[in-house]
Amino acid sequence: MSDHPVLVADDLVAGYLPGVDILRGCSVEVGQGELVGIIGPNGAGKSTLIKAVFGLVDVRSGVVRLRGDDITSNVAHELVAIGVGYVPQRDNVFSSLTVEENLRMGLYLDPGSWDRMWARVTGLFPRLGERSGQRAGLLSGGERQMLAMGRALMMDPSVLLLDEPSAGLSPLMQDQIFENIRTVCDAGVSILMVEQNARRCLQICDRAYVLDQGVDAYSGPGSELLHDPKVVELYLGTLGKVD
Ligand SMILES: Nc1ncnc2c1ncn2[C@@H]1O[C@H](COP(=O)(O)OP(=O)(O)O)[C@@H](O)[C@H]1O
Ligand SMILES: [Mg+2]
Repeated sequence: MSDHPVLVADDLVAGYLPGVDILRGCSVEVGQGELVGIIGPNGAGKSTLIKAVFGLVDVRSGVVRLRGDDITSNVAHELVAIGVGYVPQRDNVFSSLTVEENLRMGLYLDPGSWDRMWARVTGLFPRLGERSGQRAGLLSGGERQMLAMGRALMMDPSVLLLDEPSAGLSPLMQDQIFENIRTVCDAGVSILMVEQNARRCLQICDRAYVLDQGVDAYSGPGSELLHDPKVVELYLGTLGKVD
């Protein structure tokens, strides 16, 4: 093991269209076992940051490192094979396949470890074990999100990238998902999580970054940002007021 953080994005400039940079020098890092949040206004570049780390957006300058190794030019399937998991915001399960089939898809690079990983993932998400034969399209929103995370976990990643895991869920289900995410992290998976639910995100994260116009504007322990007047005023609004 090295002293390097698990994941580092250093000074990333990235975008979709020629001449238009969405990330404009954005840096974040995730330490071993950390749960790190990314919050910020709509359009700030949060999803773009996650996609840039996962090789899905053109990185124009800057570097992404996994335990010190440069992975900037790696493509998604290579990243999965070396321990980076990604759960996109939408369309993150195969609706017409069952829960079990979805999990098997998650393991297509390493089918030999099915028994072990099935036991581990259904241990973390007992619901997925109970619903193993059910088609994913018939699951509740929360169960689908569990399945999407479970699928990414099948490859036993050392770091998991989550894009808005609580989006579209009821407040009760959001709490459940956040609890699951904390459990996954406590089981040794380092996590970089984008969240629109800024207040809840700061409450459960070890550390967080506020992204604004493609730049990491603020960072610190979640509990500090939650009470930082600048962050509350500019980014949390009434959501940031702690009762
Ligand atoms: N596929 C795309 N092609 C062109 N522009 C995009 C694409 N996806 C996102 N953008 C633009 O990038 C900016 C940041 O988007 P995004 O990273 O999705 O923000 P966030 O996740 O913080 O809401 C927005 O201005 C958005 O319009
Ligand atoms: Mg987004």
